[in-house]
Amino acid sequence: MAMSCTKGTSGLMHKLKLIMSANQSSRCSSWWTDVEMGPPDPILGVTEAFKRDSNPKKMNLGVGAYRDDKGKPYVLPTVAKAQEKVLGMDKEYLGITGLPAFTTAAANLAFGPDSAVISDKRNVTTQGISGTGSLRIGANFLSKFFQGHKTVWLPTPSWGNHNPIFMHAGLEIQKYRYYKPATCGFDADGALDDISQIPEKSIVLFHACAHNPTGVDPKPEHWAEMSKICKQRNLLPFFDMAYQGFASGDVNKDAASMRLFVEDGHNILLAQSFAKNMGLYGERAGAFTVVCADQDEAARVESQLKILIRPLYSNPPCNGARIAATILNDPALNAQWLVEVKGMADRIISMRQQLVENLKKEGSIRNWSHITDQIGMFCFTGLTQGEVERLTRDHSVYLTKDGRISVAGVSSDNVQYLAHAIHQVTK
Ligand SMILES: Cc1ncc(COP(=O)(O)O)c(C=O)c1O
Repeated sequence: MAMSCTKGTSGLMHKLKLIMSANQSSRCSSWWTDVEMGPPDPILGVTEAFKRDSNPKKMNLGVGAYRDDKGKPYVLPTVAKAQEKVLGMDKEYLGITGLPAFTTAAANLAFGPDSAVISDKRNVTTQGISGTGSLRIGANFLSKFFQGHKTVWLPTPSWGNHNPIFMHAGLEIQKYRYYKPATCGFDADGALDDISQIPEKSIVLFHACAHNPTGVDPKPEHWAEMSKICKQRNLLPFFDMAYQGFASGDVNKDAASMRLFVEDGHNILLAQSFAKNMGLYGERAGAFTVVCADQDEAARVESQLKILIRPLYSNPPCNGARIAATILNDPALNAQWLVEVKGMADRIISMRQQLVENLKKEGSIRNWSHITDQIGMFCFTGLTQGEVERLTRDHSVYLTKDGRISVAGVSSDNVQYLAHAIHQVTK
């Protein structure tokens, strides 16, 4: 039994007990003795090991956050300007579904201002706690209301958090083939074959662009084929768009896969994040959208989303949403932001090119073309676990065991060192 607290009878005893309350012997016995130690987060584990390393040349390529060419975190100039504009605002609660100026602008950015979904008012867009929280609202909504198989089909591999997000909401997880280790590219045949065998009325998750962790995106013709199959099999596509603009530098190009599905008539689900494309990581600005059949359905869905969100966190944080809304709704700031997003994407693309060039200069005869074929923050290098271990042990280059590097952590100053290190462990 865990109940061993007693109340003092006399005043003196009571005082004594208070003094002793800091002493463990007077504490109630624990409720949590059976709680087992969980495994550490694989990415945070990489950072911990990096911090302990005293090599001045050490590189942390584990973290998925953008760094400038000096390796420093980057506050976008538009974000700094927007932050100033919203500085004096009160801190009253937002509504349950967030800041309307933000959710409207987020939906416009995702679907495009000319989208029929928007003009028909068929979308319900609620603010979410960045991409993760938006996915989780979607997972909870599916768990409660989806009429088909409560199974989400994820690409193999997928972002590590997809699995627990859907599982914790009570959904089953299944996998479809996506990445082909032999080519470090998209397994088109495998993906199309697997998707065409998914039981009807199931949920399929797609990364809209800049697939994490592989950096491998399907080509437009593959998207068209996948959309066709999803329609034939009556599957519900759920798009995770955490990198709009960050992949190619063009927000429209990066949303093209999702928009194609919408044009093909799919009533998709969408989770958006402004962590990467606005550098608003800790501000937790994101949005979740359900595309509905009509305005009436949209109103009913919105009412239920409110009922789900209210006991989760009541209402979302206001600062990040205000910053994002200011940037998206002010034409001058918006134009400047598009240039800044492209700047981040271009720096990453240029680092990919420089890494391949430097590998060639080192004398590597391996085919590294996948490094430049892949897109976005991450690159699946194709390094084996043994090569990754040697890279870390002998060269202080830190990355996840699967060989994924965050290209955002590479800069003009260290790209040559990285190429040298990779060549040393792969020659
Ligand atoms: C594929 C994918 N989805 C969603 C997210 C969500 O990120 P956040 O919750 O920080 O917006 C990330 C971030 O790494 C991601 O890579």
